[in-house]
Amino acid sequence: MKKNIYAVISGAVLLFGAAACAKAPSVEEQAKEAAPSAVQAAQKPSSGKKILVAYYSYSGNTKAVAGQIAQALGADLFEINTVEPYPASYGDLLDKAKQEINSGTKPALSARVENMAQYDVVFIGSPNWWGTIAPAVSSFVSQYDWQGKAVAGFVTHGGGGMQNCERDLKNQLSGATFLQWAAFPGRSLGADAEDLQAWLNKLAL
Ligand SMILES: Cc1cc2nc3c(=O)[nH]c(=O)nc-3n(C[C@H](O)[C@H](O)[C@H](O)COP(=O)(O)O)c2cc1C
Repeated sequence: MKKNIYAVISGAVLLFGAAACAKAPSVEEQAKEAAPSAVQAAQKPSSGKKILVAYYSYSGNTKAVAGQIAQALGADLFEINTVEPYPASYGDLLDKAKQEINSGTKPALSARVENMAQYDVVFIGSPNWWGTIAPAVSSFVSQYDWQGKAVAGFVTHGGGGMQNCERDLKNQLSGATFLQWAAFPGRSLGADAEDLQAWLNKLAL
C-alpha cells in the first residue's frame, strides 16, 4: 500500500522536484536569508510568549515560510542542518530520503538550539518527504524535552498537502501541547501572505 502511494506521489514529486532543481540550491542561495513575501509587520505576542521557528529546508520553500512566520511574530529562527549534506542530484535525493525514512534513520545535525528552555512556543517546519516529515526534523525533535511547550507544525509540499506529516511529528513530541498545524504549497517565495496571516491569527499567540 505504502509503495503504491509513493509510486503515485513520485509523479507529483518529480514534477515539483524539477522546479526545485531548476532553482539550483547553490551554497550561495542556501546562505541567502529567506525573502518573505509581505506578511503583516512583526507583532510580538502581547502575552510576552517567547517563540522559536525551527525548520529544515532542502530547496528553500520551507525556509521562506519560516522566515515569514518569524517576521510576523518577531520570533527567533533556527535552521536545522545535517552534518552530511543530501545529494545534489534530485533522483539520488529521493532515493536517500526514502531509504532513511523506511529505516527510521535520524541523521546527525550540525547545531543545537541554545537554551531551548526559554521558548514557550515552537513552530517546527519540514518539507513533506514521501508523505512524512524529513528525517532531519526527527533528529531535531529527538534532542529536546517538549514537556509543557506549545508546538505548531508547518509543512511545505509539492501537491500532497500534510499527508502523514502532522501525525508522525506529533508522535515524536511527547509532553507538548499542540496548536493548529498548517500545510502550504511549496513555493520559493513563501506562503500566500493572506493564508499565512489567517493561520497565525487563529493561533492567537
Ligand atoms: C525526497 C522528497 C520527497 C518528496 N515527497 C513529497 C511527497 O510525498 N508529497 C508532496 O506533496 N511533495 C513531496 N516532495 C516535494 C516537497 O515537499 C516540496 O518541494 C517542498 O516544498 C520542499 O521544501 P524545501 O524547499 O523546504 O526543501 C518531496 C520532495 C523531496 C525532495
